[in-house]
Amino acid sequence: MRHDPLAFLAADLESLRQQGLYRHLRILEGEQKPKTSFDHRQVVNLSSNNYLGLTTHPRLRKVALEATEKLGVGSGSVRTIAGTMDIHMELERRLAAFKKTEAVVVFQSGFAANAGTVAAVLSKDDFVVSDELNHASIIDGCRLSRATIKVFPHKDVDAARKVLKDLPGGKAGSKDAPRKLLITDGVFSMDGDLGAVPELCAVAEEFGAIMMVDDAHASGVFGKNGRGTIDHFEVHGRVDVQVGTLSKAIGVLGGYVAGTKTLIEFLYHRARPFLFSTSHPPAVAAACLAAVDVLEQEPEIIDRLWDNTRFFKAGLNTLGFNTGLSQSPITPVIVGDGALAMKLSDRLFDGGVFAQGIAFPTVARDKARVRTIVTATHTRDELQFALDVFSKVGRELGIIK
Ligand SMILES: Cc1ncc(COP(=O)(O)O)c(C=O)c1O
Repeated sequence: MRHDPLAFLAADLESLRQQGLYRHLRILEGEQKPKTSFDHRQVVNLSSNNYLGLTTHPRLRKVALEATEKLGVGSGSVRTIAGTMDIHMELERRLAAFKKTEAVVVFQSGFAANAGTVAAVLSKDDFVVSDELNHASIIDGCRLSRATIKVFPHKDVDAARKVLKDLPGGKAGSKDAPRKLLITDGVFSMDGDLGAVPELCAVAEEFGAIMMVDDAHASGVFGKNGRGTIDHFEVHGRVDVQVGTLSKAIGVLGGYVAGTKTLIEFLYHRARPFLFSTSHPPAVAAACLAAVDVLEQEPEIIDRLWDNTRFFKAGLNTLGFNTGLSQSPITPVIVGDGALAMKLSDRLFDGGVFAQGIAFPTVARDKARVRTIVTATHTRDELQFALDVFSKVGRELGIIK
């Protein structure tokens, strides 16, 4: 009989089961909406990144169907060969104008945008200085670049400054000086707090470092019309590399980098996901374009998101849950133990509320949590129902009194 060289995987999975950390994928049976059916149960959905409800917005749906009728279902090639369609270029121009930068390049996902960009910009003699809670796609990009990775404690600007100060020199700007990249999330995906963007911009300027911000959870949420943290903090022109996603508030799929024309041209030539993976179907680009129209023409959607966020956050805090340092629609309910977080999530689900449990390695071992995300399209009744279920289950599990 053939020996199974992958047998060790089953042992790993068994260990997850024993720790209570094994997860079944929840299956969504209909549309991605605030109240919907997962695993044959109607639930209030507090687990999607569909901040503005655009996954089912009639304008996006309509243009996606029209683009499919007119242009087909796929692009048929990578961007650098035959896969750059008019509509891809139109989306990049539109996003650049929206973000107030010279140019934009769109990637297949936010993950590809982060990983592809960091790996393209740096090489093995360079340095990356990265917040400890930055997203996995940034971490992977850093690893792929082979640059030396220096991690600073979460939002500790003094520590980031010290790291940069202690890096081996070369005069900033001189040909042989190693490149230094300082990088933070705009909004941290597990805690919902904002990155120290203006302070880190100042540090980057002091040491001639490239400043990069991943605004995946800020796009469509922070800043005028959802332009992100660069607009929120008024640091236009001080962030060299801005990453955004089209997969969360924009409601569709993709990621992008906004910056100078030179940066974007460089990424057209050197970013490996751009070079070696097929571009978006036209329907995706068309829907993203319509999403930008919605951000510009229906900003009241963003106001509704923030009204709901304030209501729900206040409700959880009044009940006595530990919601950490969140400043955004992402509100964690931190319980500490991984198995307890999974139990809380399961019991909420039984009660009609879907809020995903998150444990190590996604968050620190003692910071397991259930993560909630409200959207603009939740009704007050749905959010109140969710709070009532949180109250009941939280008491039953001894998390609140
Ligand atoms: C902070 C952050 N950056 C990047 C990404 C990746 O975005 P996408 O889902 O578009 O690949 C995510 C998504 O999980 C994220 O939370």
